[in-house]
Amino acid sequence: MPFLHYNKPQKMPLSFQHLTSTKQLTREDMDGILKVALEMEKVRDNGGSDLLKGKVLASLFYEPSTRTRMSFESAMHRLGGSVITAEGIQFSSLYKGETIQDTISMASQYADIIVMRHPEQGSADLAVETASVPFINAGDGPGQHPTQGILDMVTIYKERGTLDGINVTMVGDLLYGRTVHSLSFLLGLYNDITFTFVAPDALQMPEKVTSYLDEKGMKYSTTSNLEDGLDSDVLYMTRIQKERFADSSQYEKLKDSYILQGSHVKDKDITVMHPLPRVNEISTDVDALPNAAYFRQASNGVIARMALLAMLLKQA
Ligand code: CP
Repeated sequence: MPFLHYNKPQKMPLSFQHLTSTKQLTREDMDGILKVALEMEKVRDNGGSDLLKGKVLASLFYEPSTRTRMSFESAMHRLGGSVITAEGIQFSSLYKGETIQDTISMASQYADIIVMRHPEQGSADLAVETASVPFINAGDGPGQHPTQGILDMVTIYKERGTLDGINVTMVGDLLYGRTVHSLSFLLGLYNDITFTFVAPDALQMPEKVTSYLDEKGMKYSTTSNLEDGLDSDVLYMTRIQKERFADSSQYEKLKDSYILQGSHVKDKDITVMHPLPRVNEISTDVDALPNAAYFRQASNGVIARMALLAMLLKQA
């Protein structure tokens, strides 16, 4: 099948070969990915293309995933490429004691681009030590989830029409929440952003993010009260993540800290986002509201990842 909308001779170079953290991106990178993602939406909606024909994606998921894995694999298929997979540490040679570096060195022989999710923070940095093809971090424990941040930016642009001058409230597990870390660094590239961080004291935004925002001179406030964050343009809810707590009693104490109800956001000009999966932090009566954007957000994962795969493989 021809490229449809994507037969442009002019490529959009990225400033990086591997993607481990959103801190690597420049504003030009993010603007370029956004532009290509909006083109990729047309490609997807018109039946796909053969832009990545002959290219192979290694999809390595050593921690559970539904959206990230399926949307990466869907993105590769929609661009005419193919996918090889490994899942679960217990079914891979990592279980036998192989290092991440050796695993990635091997995957580099079998594929043209590698995506990996791993439960340990820092695993993506180990992977790029031996990656000889482009490597993408699909989530490294409580560290970063850069492609989620990118698709979140695409979603904010599509829902709000701009990435500058917006107020963003982030709610829930901000300490271990890699999605809010990645998104904060990306929003830090834009102008006049104001953040409200809503979390229990024990799960507030970590210093690695707030010090970055301080360096950039960005405005943020912290609170434990959800009501303080409901006047924003974007309300980014997150799950309290059971798997990140060493002490299960602490999780039990905090798990129901915030439950967004339809009455909180009905008839308000506030875009409700969530990286998903959710447990109970957004009541299902929010789902049908026009400003509930979280299922559209998950759908944007495909076009954002189509853009990134094509750009890292220097085809877009
Ligand atoms: N948002 C996200 O990373 O979802 P999955 O864990 O299902 O991939």
